[in-house]
Amino acid sequence: MNETTALLNIGSLVTNDPELGEGLLGLITDAALVIEEGRVSWVGRSSDVTPTTAVIDLEGRAVLPGFVDSHAHLMFAGDRADEFAARMSGERYAAGGIRRTVAATRAATDEQLAENLWRLAAELRRSGVTTFETKSGYGLTTIDEARALGIASSVTQETTYLGAHVVPAEFEGRPDDYVELVAGAMLDSCAPHSKWIDVFCDRGAFDVDQARTVLLAGVAAGLVPRLHANQLQHGGGVQLAVEVDAASADHCTYLDDLDIEALAASNTVATLLPGAEFSTRSPYPDARRLLDAGATIALATDCNPGSSYTTSMSLMIAIAVRDMRMTPDEAAWSATLGGAKALRRSDIGRLSVGSRADIVSLNAPSHIHLAYRPGVDLIHRVWQAPLTPKVAA
Ligand code: NIG
Ligand code: FE
Repeated sequence: MNETTALLNIGSLVTNDPELGEGLLGLITDAALVIEEGRVSWVGRSSDVTPTTAVIDLEGRAVLPGFVDSHAHLMFAGDRADEFAARMSGERYAAGGIRRTVAATRAATDEQLAENLWRLAAELRRSGVTTFETKSGYGLTTIDEARALGIASSVTQETTYLGAHVVPAEFEGRPDDYVELVAGAMLDSCAPHSKWIDVFCDRGAFDVDQARTVLLAGVAAGLVPRLHANQLQHGGGVQLAVEVDAASADHCTYLDDLDIEALAASNTVATLLPGAEFSTRSPYPDARRLLDAGATIALATDCNPGSSYTTSMSLMIAIAVRDMRMTPDEAAWSATLGGAKALRRSDIGRLSVGSRADIVSLNAPSHIHLAYRPGVDLIHRVWQAPLTPKVAA
């Protein structure tokens, strides 16, 4: 995509820049977009575009910024379909299932882990995702966490060290010893491959004090915090995320008024992961309450083999609209610019001059069809600017 390319006859273009078009999405109808050297160089009405050498006629299709999946767990081996089936027969989801994936992941070769990652990365791309984050968290030894992050760094710059996912079996009854390892030697080995640090702060995983210890050690090592918070029950996770200025508090399923106020008054994005509630048959988070209070929402897949084995951002949008009372505009925004904000990125999630040319076209005339046509693969084409090499930490 090094030459100048014009995308013409876009039926409706989501720019996510309210100065360029209508409403929250900065929507332009009968639009065109010009791409130069992997960046957007012009946006406007089709009738105003200057002709260029390469032209792609979108024939009235909708165009959006590529989806930004700001929360996924792709560094694993194995399968837990049996747990899903048991849940659908009435079992409750428990964090302990993570240890089964840990056993399978430790037993896998580097090649097997890389192949599984590539398979899921290809699935994400086919579903319109042009930037994704991935976490470690299924190795839980210094060597296994560092190798997962090393492999992940070859496909995304959004890598998250999640050594504090659960306490592994060999540390049973000694959680504080494990926290010391995660915040010490394991962090030293993982930090060079990571941008973010995360903790699963919830029932069956880590408490608020343990999570704070790990996050602050990560900050001291140059990583930026994000946090799994309030997924399985109400607790202090969201307040901790705000306290440490985390880029996002993820899940946010069980929130009280103080949590919502704290999120709304902070820089911490509420990342909602409805695939987890869908696959664990749990109540969905109350997106409407968060939005009405002024909080920023990202939607992401949480792709993982235990609680949300999906790469479909379109499904997240459909659930958010149907069951979480988000409007189609709000859901499209949260799956694009909301995700970018959760990753503290200003170069993605919008299509205005200078943005990365990460673009999706739909086999539909408008983004509303993402929720209006649930379960239908509407992705027509995906353009992705070349990955910017990671600057060594
Ligand atoms: O985000 N909540 C913690 N981690 C994952 C689940 C991981 C698993 O069950 O394997 C999640 O839902
Ligand atoms: Fe998660």
